[in-house]
Amino acid sequence: MSTLLFYNFKGGVGKTTISVLAADHLSRTGKKVLLIDLDAQASATLFLKNSYGNIVPKRSLYNSLQKGSLRPSIFHLDKNLDLIPADWDMSLWNQSLEKLPQYDRNLVLQKLIQPLKDDYDFIILDIPPTLSTLVNNAVLASDYIILVLQTQSASYEGVLRTAKYLAQLRKDYDARFKLLGIVLYLVSKSANSDTTIANEARKTFGDAIFANSIYHRERVKRWSNEGLTHKPNDVHDRRTHKMYSLFLKEVLFRIGEDK
Ligand SMILES: Nc1ncnc2c1ncn2[C@@H]1O[C@H](COP(=O)(O)OP(=O)(O)OP(=O)(O)O)[C@@H](O)[C@H]1O
Ligand SMILES: [Mg+2]
Repeated sequence: MSTLLFYNFKGGVGKTTISVLAADHLSRTGKKVLLIDLDAQASATLFLKNSYGNIVPKRSLYNSLQKGSLRPSIFHLDKNLDLIPADWDMSLWNQSLEKLPQYDRNLVLQKLIQPLKDDYDFIILDIPPTLSTLVNNAVLASDYIILVLQTQSASYEGVLRTAKYLAQLRKDYDARFKLLGIVLYLVSKSANSDTTIANEARKTFGDAIFANSIYHRERVKRWSNEGLTHKPNDVHDRRTHKMYSLFLKEVLFRIGEDK
């Protein structure tokens, strides 16, 4: 079992979209997947609600985190795909963590995920774009972290700062998570400038950059508003899924699960 986290402090770089598409693709290839939406904005939950209909867990994630067991918050969506949805009350979690001793407060999620590990091949965490105790919890509960770099606002210092921050957290907690690499989210209008930006990023970060990037595709917007579709005769559906699946293949390859 592996826990995956798509990470960036910055908002709106495509983390949630990649997390949802990763959950969709991995579950469709026969992996058992649990997506945990830790973001009070609940964008992943909304995306999946638009795809699967109402999502009503027995207990909210926030209550489960307080009570010490996540199971009552798991909602079954599809063959191989479960979700722990987020709700507005997740905005209270950070503050409630502050009551715990400094060291322990970052390890709550890691402990609560542990008993679920045998039930899944992948647990994917979706987090808000903050530097917070909540996000520290997600980092320390992860096995693999993938940095998402939106190249339009190409904040290379941001990536370096992020890597430094993660390294410090890893040291303080003697954690084992691995930085799997950096995925580029290319949002420029022309293929030419995409190539230039991607080449520059490769010069700076070398092999850390995934060979397969995510491009801006209108279809993604439609999916998040109207629900995910997999229409074999629809060229935009096919192309957009192909883009995410090539990237995810590379993720599995880097993890060592590409067999
Ligand atoms: N490949 C893509 N093509 C087009 N639009 C995209 C793509 N990926 C994400 N988007 C859109 O960009 C916006 C931000 O994406 P998303 O919510 O996934 O980012 P995020 O990093 O999770 O944001 P936040 O930091 O607020 O959680 C959304 O409107 C989403 O539909
Ligand atoms: Mg998000």
